[in-house]
Amino acid sequence: MPRLLLDCDPGHDDALAILLAAKHSDLLGITTVSGNAPLTATTHNALLTLQIAGIEAPVYAGAARPLVAEAQHAPDIHGASGLGGPVLPELTQAAAGGDAVRFIVDTVRETDGVWLVAVGPLTNVALALREAPDIAARLAGISVMGGSAGFGNRTATAEFNIWADPEAAQVVFTSGVKLIMCGLNVTHQFMIYEDDVARIRALNNPVAEFAAELLSFYGQAYADAFFGRAEGPLHDPCAVLAVTHPDLLVTEPRHVEVELRGEHTRGMTVVDERGARASTKPNVQVAYRINREGALALLVETLGTYR
Ligand code: BDR
Ligand code: CA
Repeated sequence: MPRLLLDCDPGHDDALAILLAAKHSDLLGITTVSGNAPLTATTHNALLTLQIAGIEAPVYAGAARPLVAEAQHAPDIHGASGLGGPVLPELTQAAAGGDAVRFIVDTVRETDGVWLVAVGPLTNVALALREAPDIAARLAGISVMGGSAGFGNRTATAEFNIWADPEAAQVVFTSGVKLIMCGLNVTHQFMIYEDDVARIRALNNPVAEFAAELLSFYGQAYADAFFGRAEGPLHDPCAVLAVTHPDLLVTEPRHVEVELRGEHTRGMTVVDERGARASTKPNVQVAYRINREGALALLVETLGTYR
């Protein structure tokens, strides 16, 4: 199983990414970042997810705000708490003492072959690469949920995680590290519908029930914000699966730049699709396809293994 650090901002799809990563990787730890909700909430939500699922992994709180931009959140999709929907228990565990960035740097320096899966704004990851550029060569790679080879969601051109901290994203995309990008063009192929939520609920264990409650809130939020139908894209699980089950995705090498200045395009990932005509060099494996049926079957099977 791959060794994995998960940097996240739970977040409904982040919580599902945690539940997948815990069963299909050697999960070394979880780091949290400001994103879907403020840092105190995303840290609380990560700890709650572990508590509900009985997962043992240290949680380190990281950056409370982006490198340059003001902190922005996504209550329209995730609720003000970041984890709207289920009735949540009292939290009985605390975050580990110490900072997420220090934890990432130390873990990557001490452990061979670590994959960093980053499914929130890239602030912690950028700070770690800035503080310790040597970790770029030590990492097996970074799998990012962020950006898009196509449309945006927070703006017409920009995806939320990159839009929330474009300066951090630029540090990561220019770091020379092996990078996989699971953007909206692929995560919107991993859509979850009401029937799927019913299938998950019927697994009849408390973790599957928690997942089903999350997913029905999330589907409704997407219905209200975007589609008019209860269906939600499982963004963050895609970045975990790109590492744990790479056969489920198809990726292609591309040159990708993060737009920092455009009036209508700040936070956009500009993907060079010119093929042989491009003078740029690929710096990212961009995911273009996911086997939805396979990924969904794996998710349902995994949730069925919790008690
Ligand atoms: C990303 O933004 C968040 O709302 C999700 O958790 C995901 O990481 C999708 O744009
Ligand atoms: Ca996220």
